[in-house]
Amino acid sequence: MDFQTISYQKSGHAGIISINRPDKLNALNSTVLAEMDGAITLAESDPEVAAVIITGSGEKSFVAGADISELDKLSVTTGKEFAEKGQALFGRIERFGKPIIAAINGYALGGGSELAWACHIRIASTNAKFGQPEVSLGIIPGYGGSQRLVRLAGRGIATELIVTGNQIDAETALRLRLVNAVVDQAQLLPTAMKMVDTIATRAPAAVNLALQAIEAAVQTGQSEGMKIEAQLFALSCGTEDKKEGTSAFLGKRKPIWKGR
Ligand code: COA
Repeated sequence: MDFQTISYQKSGHAGIISINRPDKLNALNSTVLAEMDGAITLAESDPEVAAVIITGSGEKSFVAGADISELDKLSVTTGKEFAEKGQALFGRIERFGKPIIAAINGYALGGGSELAWACHIRIASTNAKFGQPEVSLGIIPGYGGSQRLVRLAGRGIATELIVTGNQIDAETALRLRLVNAVVDQAQLLPTAMKMVDTIATRAPAAVNLALQAIEAAVQTGQSEGMKIEAQLFALSCGTEDKKEGTSAFLGKRKPIWKGR
Protein backbone atom coordinates (compact mmCIF):
# COMPACT_ATOMS: atom_id res chain seq x y z
CA MET A 1 0.00 0.00 0.00
CA ASP A 2 1.31 3.48 -0.92
CA PHE A 3 1.20 6.10 1.81
CA GLN A 4 1.78 9.85 1.43
CA THR A 5 2.02 11.05 5.03
CA ILE A 6 3.39 8.02 6.85
CA SER A 7 5.73 5.17 6.07
CA TYR A 8 5.18 1.56 7.03
CA GLN A 9 8.11 -0.83 7.03
CA LYS A 10 8.77 -4.25 8.41
CA SER A 11 12.02 -4.89 10.24
CA GLY A 12 12.51 -8.27 11.85
CA HIS A 13 9.30 -8.93 13.79
CA ALA A 14 8.33 -5.25 14.00
CA GLY A 15 5.89 -3.28 11.90
CA ILE A 16 7.22 0.29 12.05
CA ILE A 17 4.82 3.16 11.40
CA SER A 18 6.61 6.47 10.98
CA ILE A 19 4.58 9.64 10.73
CA ASN A 20 6.22 11.52 7.92
CA ARG A 21 5.36 15.23 7.63
CA PRO A 22 8.68 16.67 8.84
CA ASP A 23 7.92 20.15 7.42
CA LYS A 24 4.90 20.30 9.79
CA LEU A 25 6.69 18.51 12.65
CA ASN A 26 4.56 15.42 11.87
CA ALA A 27 1.27 17.10 12.81
CA LEU A 28 -1.73 14.80 12.48
CA ASN A 29 -4.20 15.64 9.73
CA SER A 30 -7.08 13.53 8.45
CA THR A 31 -4.85 11.84 5.84
CA VAL A 32 -2.33 10.82 8.52
CA LEU A 33 -5.12 9.31 10.64
CA ALA A 34 -6.55 7.36 7.67
CA GLU A 35 -3.10 6.12 6.62
CA MET A 36 -2.17 5.08 10.16
CA ASP A 37 -5.40 3.10 10.28
CA GLY A 38 -4.39 1.42 6.99
CA ALA A 39 -0.92 0.56 8.29
CA ILE A 40 -2.36 -0.88 11.50
CA THR A 41 -4.61 -3.11 9.39
CA LEU A 42 -1.52 -4.38 7.54
CA ALA A 43 0.24 -5.11 10.84
CA GLU A 44 -2.85 -6.82 12.25
CA SER A 45 -3.14 -9.38 9.48
CA ASP A 46 0.60 -10.09 9.18
CA PRO A 47 1.69 -13.13 11.23
CA GLU A 48 5.34 -12.05 10.92
CA VAL A 49 4.60 -8.88 12.90
CA ALA A 50 4.84 -9.55 16.64
CA ALA A 51 4.55 -5.90 17.70
CA VAL A 52 4.22 -2.43 16.21
CA ILE A 53 6.44 0.62 16.74
CA ILE A 54 5.01 4.09 16.13
CA THR A 55 7.50 6.93 15.72
CA GLY A 56 7.95 10.26 13.95
CA SER A 57 10.30 10.98 11.07
CA GLY A 58 13.31 13.20 11.71
CA GLU A 59 15.00 13.99 15.00
CA LYS A 60 12.90 16.91 16.20
CA SER A 61 9.33 15.74 16.52
CA PHE A 62 7.27 12.64 17.26
CA VAL A 63 3.97 14.45 16.55
CA ALA A 64 3.49 18.19 17.24
CA GLY A 65 -0.25 17.75 17.67
CA ALA A 66 -3.31 17.79 15.50
CA ASP A 67 -2.87 19.97 12.42
CA ILE A 68 -3.83 23.45 13.60
CA SER A 69 -4.98 24.44 10.09
CA GLU A 70 -7.68 21.73 10.38
CA LEU A 71 -8.54 22.78 13.97
CA ASP A 72 -9.00 26.34 12.71
CA LYS A 73 -11.99 25.31 10.57
CA LEU A 74 -13.90 23.27 13.18
CA SER A 75 -17.42 24.13 14.34
CA VAL A 76 -19.46 22.54 17.15
CA THR A 77 -20.74 19.87 14.74
CA THR A 78 -17.51 19.11 12.91
CA GLY A 79 -15.55 19.36 16.19
CA LYS A 80 -17.46 16.40 17.58
CA GLU A 81 -16.86 14.37 14.43
CA PHE A 82 -13.17 15.35 14.50
CA ALA A 83 -12.76 14.17 18.10
CA GLU A 84 -14.67 10.94 17.49
CA LYS A 85 -12.55 10.09 14.45
CA GLY A 86 -9.29 10.51 16.38
CA GLN A 87 -10.70 8.69 19.39
CA ALA A 88 -11.71 5.75 17.16
CA LEU A 89 -8.16 5.35 15.82
CA PHE A 90 -6.49 5.82 19.21
CA GLY A 91 -9.03 3.39 20.74
CA ARG A 92 -8.07 0.88 18.07
CA ILE A 93 -4.41 1.35 18.99
CA GLU A 94 -5.19 0.90 22.70
CA ARG A 95 -7.18 -2.30 22.06
CA PHE A 96 -4.84 -3.66 19.36
CA GLY A 97 -4.11 -7.38 19.62
CA LYS A 98 -0.31 -6.99 19.42
CA PRO A 99 1.80 -4.68 21.60
CA ILE A 100 2.23 -1.15 20.23
CA ILE A 101 5.32 0.74 21.36
CA ALA A 102 5.55 4.53 20.98
CA ALA A 103 9.15 5.52 20.21
CA ILE A 104 8.94 9.22 21.04
CA ASN A 105 11.73 11.02 19.23
CA GLY A 106 11.01 14.69 20.04
CA TYR A 107 7.92 16.86 20.48
CA ALA A 108 4.83 14.93 21.57
CA LEU A 109 2.32 17.73 21.97
CA GLY A 110 -1.47 17.70 21.99
CA GLY A 111 -2.54 14.82 19.74
CA GLY A 112 1.09 13.64 19.84
CA SER A 113 0.95 13.14 23.59
CA GLU A 114 -2.49 11.59 23.22
CA LEU A 115 -1.11 9.16 20.64
CA ALA A 116 1.69 8.22 23.05
CA TRP A 117 -0.81 7.73 25.91
CA ALA A 118 -2.86 5.38 23.69
CA CYS A 119 0.13 3.13 22.93
CA HIS A 120 0.82 0.18 25.25
CA ILE A 121 4.46 1.06 25.99
CA ARG A 122 6.31 4.39 25.67
CA ILE A 123 10.05 4.84 25.15
CA ALA A 124 11.31 8.41 24.86
CA SER A 125 14.53 9.91 23.54
CA THR A 126 16.30 12.39 25.83
CA ASN A 127 15.07 15.34 23.71
CA ALA A 128 11.38 14.32 23.92
CA LYS A 129 8.93 16.93 25.18
CA PHE A 130 5.40 16.17 26.24
CA GLY A 131 2.49 18.54 26.71
CA GLN A 132 -1.22 19.14 26.28
CA PRO A 133 -1.19 22.74 24.95
CA GLU A 134 -4.81 22.71 23.76
CA VAL A 135 -6.01 25.40 26.20
CA SER A 136 -3.47 27.75 24.58
CA LEU A 137 -5.53 27.35 21.38
CA GLY A 138 -8.90 27.73 23.10
CA ILE A 139 -9.76 24.03 22.95
CA ILE A 140 -9.35 20.97 25.16
CA PRO A 141 -7.80 17.56 24.38
CA GLY A 142 -10.12 15.69 22.02
CA TYR A 143 -8.29 12.45 21.21
CA GLY A 144 -8.63 10.91 24.68
CA GLY A 145 -6.05 13.00 26.55
CA SER A 146 -8.34 14.08 29.38
CA GLN A 147 -9.29 10.45 30.03
CA ARG A 148 -6.08 8.48 29.47
CA LEU A 149 -3.79 10.97 31.18
CA VAL A 150 -5.87 10.88 34.38
CA ARG A 151 -5.57 7.09 34.42
CA LEU A 152 -1.84 7.13 33.62
CA ALA A 153 -0.61 10.00 35.79
CA GLY A 154 -3.42 10.56 38.30
CA ARG A 155 -5.84 13.47 38.46
CA GLY A 156 -3.50 16.10 39.92
CA ILE A 157 -0.69 15.71 37.37
CA ALA A 158 -3.17 15.37 34.50
CA THR A 159 -5.01 18.50 35.58
CA GLU A 160 -1.79 20.49 35.91
CA LEU A 161 -0.59 19.47 32.44
CA ILE A 162 -3.97 20.06 30.80
CA VAL A 163 -4.92 23.40 32.40
CA THR A 164 -1.44 24.97 32.23
CA GLY A 165 -0.51 23.61 28.79
CA ASN A 166 3.08 23.44 30.06
CA GLN A 167 5.59 21.09 28.48
CA ILE A 168 7.58 18.52 30.44
CA ASP A 169 10.85 16.94 29.42
CA ALA A 170 11.60 13.24 29.06
CA GLU A 171 13.18 12.84 32.52
CA THR A 172 10.13 14.43 34.15
CA ALA A 173 7.85 12.14 32.12
CA LEU A 174 9.91 9.18 33.38
CA ARG A 175 9.61 10.36 36.99
CA LEU A 176 5.82 10.67 36.52
CA ARG A 177 5.77 7.14 35.07
CA LEU A 178 4.41 8.43 31.78
CA VAL A 179 7.20 6.65 29.90
CA ASN A 180 8.89 3.30 30.47
CA ALA A 181 12.41 4.45 29.61
CA VAL A 182 14.45 7.38 28.32
CA VAL A 183 17.35 6.68 25.96
CA ASP A 184 19.65 8.63 23.62
CA GLN A 185 18.00 9.32 20.30
CA ALA A 186 20.41 6.95 18.51
CA GLN A 187 19.27 4.17 20.85
CA LEU A 188 15.54 4.83 20.51
CA LEU A 189 14.65 2.47 17.66
CA PRO A 190 17.23 -0.18 18.70
CA THR A 191 15.70 -0.19 22.22
CA ALA A 192 12.18 -0.56 20.84
CA MET A 193 13.36 -3.24 18.39
CA LYS A 194 15.02 -5.18 21.22
CA MET A 195 11.70 -5.18 23.07
CA VAL A 196 9.91 -6.40 19.93
CA ASP A 197 12.50 -9.18 19.52
CA THR A 198 11.81 -10.33 23.07
CA ILE A 199 8.03 -10.24 22.54
CA ALA A 200 8.52 -12.26 19.34
CA THR A 201 10.02 -15.12 21.38
CA ARG A 202 6.86 -15.40 23.53
CA ALA A 203 3.63 -17.26 22.75
CA PRO A 204 1.66 -14.92 20.42
CA ALA A 205 -1.80 -15.97 21.65
CA ALA A 206 -0.71 -15.51 25.27
CA VAL A 207 0.64 -12.02 24.47
CA ASN A 208 -2.72 -11.18 22.90
CA LEU A 209 -4.71 -12.50 25.88
CA ALA A 210 -2.43 -10.61 28.29
CA LEU A 211 -3.12 -7.36 26.42
CA GLN A 212 -6.85 -8.01 26.78
CA ALA A 213 -6.48 -8.63 30.53
CA ILE A 214 -4.46 -5.42 30.98
CA GLU A 215 -7.07 -3.48 29.01
CA ALA A 216 -9.74 -4.84 31.39
CA ALA A 217 -7.78 -3.37 34.31
CA VAL A 218 -8.08 0.07 32.72
CA GLN A 219 -11.70 -0.22 31.59
CA THR A 220 -13.37 -1.97 34.57
CA GLY A 221 -13.28 -2.20 38.36
CA GLN A 222 -10.94 -4.72 40.05
CA SER A 223 -13.52 -7.43 40.84
CA GLU A 224 -14.87 -7.35 37.26
CA GLY A 225 -11.28 -7.32 35.99
CA MET A 226 -10.50 -10.44 38.06
CA LYS A 227 -13.39 -12.29 36.40
CA ILE A 228 -12.15 -11.26 32.97
CA GLU A 229 -8.61 -12.31 33.89
CA ALA A 230 -9.83 -15.79 34.95
CA GLN A 231 -11.73 -16.17 31.66
CA LEU A 232 -8.71 -15.12 29.62
CA PHE A 233 -6.41 -17.34 31.69
CA ALA A 234 -8.77 -20.24 30.95
CA LEU A 235 -8.57 -19.46 27.24
CA SER A 236 -4.77 -19.49 27.41
CA CYS A 237 -4.94 -22.94 29.02
CA GLY A 238 -6.81 -24.22 25.95
CA THR A 239 -4.15 -23.14 23.43
CA GLU A 240 -1.70 -25.48 21.71
CA ASP A 241 1.01 -23.03 22.70
CA LYS A 242 0.28 -23.58 26.39
CA LYS A 243 0.86 -27.31 25.91
CA GLU A 244 4.03 -26.54 24.00
CA GLY A 245 5.27 -23.95 26.54
CA THR A 246 4.87 -26.16 29.58
CA SER A 247 6.16 -29.31 27.81
CA ALA A 248 9.19 -27.41 26.50
CA PHE A 249 10.01 -26.17 30.01
CA LEU A 250 9.64 -29.62 31.52
CA GLY A 251 11.62 -31.18 28.62
CA LYS A 252 14.38 -28.54 29.03
CA ARG A 253 14.09 -27.35 25.42
CA LYS A 254 13.02 -24.17 23.61
CA PRO A 255 9.31 -23.92 22.71
CA ILE A 256 8.19 -23.81 19.09
CA TRP A 257 5.06 -21.65 18.99
CA LYS A 258 2.16 -22.27 16.65
CA GLY A 259 0.35 -19.05 17.53
CA ARG A 260 -2.83 -20.83 18.55
N1 COA B 1 -0.21 21.94 13.18
C1 COA B 1 0.16 22.47 12.01
N2 COA B 1 1.40 22.88 11.74
C2 COA B 1 2.31 22.77 12.72
C3 COA B 1 2.00 22.22 13.98
C4 COA B 1 0.67 21.79 14.20
N3 COA B 1 0.29 21.22 15.33
N4 COA B 1 3.12 22.24 14.75
C5 COA B 1 4.09 22.76 13.99
N5 COA B 1 3.60 23.09 12.77
C6 COA B 1 4.32 23.68 11.64
C7 COA B 1 4.59 25.16 11.86
O1 COA B 1 3.46 25.93 11.51
C8 COA B 1 5.76 25.35 10.91
O2 COA B 1 5.26 25.38 9.59
P1 COA B 1 5.79 26.52 8.53
O3 COA B 1 7.27 26.23 8.41
O4 COA B 1 5.02 26.22 7.29
O5 COA B 1 5.51 27.85 9.16
C9 COA B 1 6.53 24.05 11.04
O6 COA B 1 5.61 23.10 11.54
C10 COA B 1 7.70 24.14 12.00
O7 COA B 1 7.21 24.61 13.24
P2 COA B 1 7.85 25.85 14.04
O8 COA B 1 6.79 26.39 14.95
O9 COA B 1 8.48 26.81 13.08
O10 COA B 1 9.01 25.13 14.85
P3 COA B 1 9.63 25.57 16.24
O11 COA B 1 10.82 24.70 16.45
O12 COA B 1 9.83 27.04 16.27
O13 COA B 1 8.52 25.21 17.34
C11 COA B 1 6.82 23.81 18.40
C12 COA B 1 8.16 23.88 17.58
C13 COA B 1 6.41 22.36 18.45
C14 COA B 1 7.06 24.36 19.80
C15 COA B 1 5.76 24.67 17.66
O14 COA B 1 5.72 24.29 16.31
C16 COA B 1 4.37 24.52 18.23
O15 COA B 1 4.07 25.08 19.28
N6 COA B 1 3.49 23.76 17.50
C17 COA B 1 2.11 23.64 17.89
C18 COA B 1 1.98 22.67 19.02
C19 COA B 1 0.54 22.55 19.45
O16 COA B 1 -0.07 23.47 19.95
N7 COA B 1 0.01 21.35 19.24
C20 COA B 1 -1.28 21.00 19.75
C21 COA B 1 -2.33 21.11 18.75
S1 COA B 1 -3.84 20.57 19.53
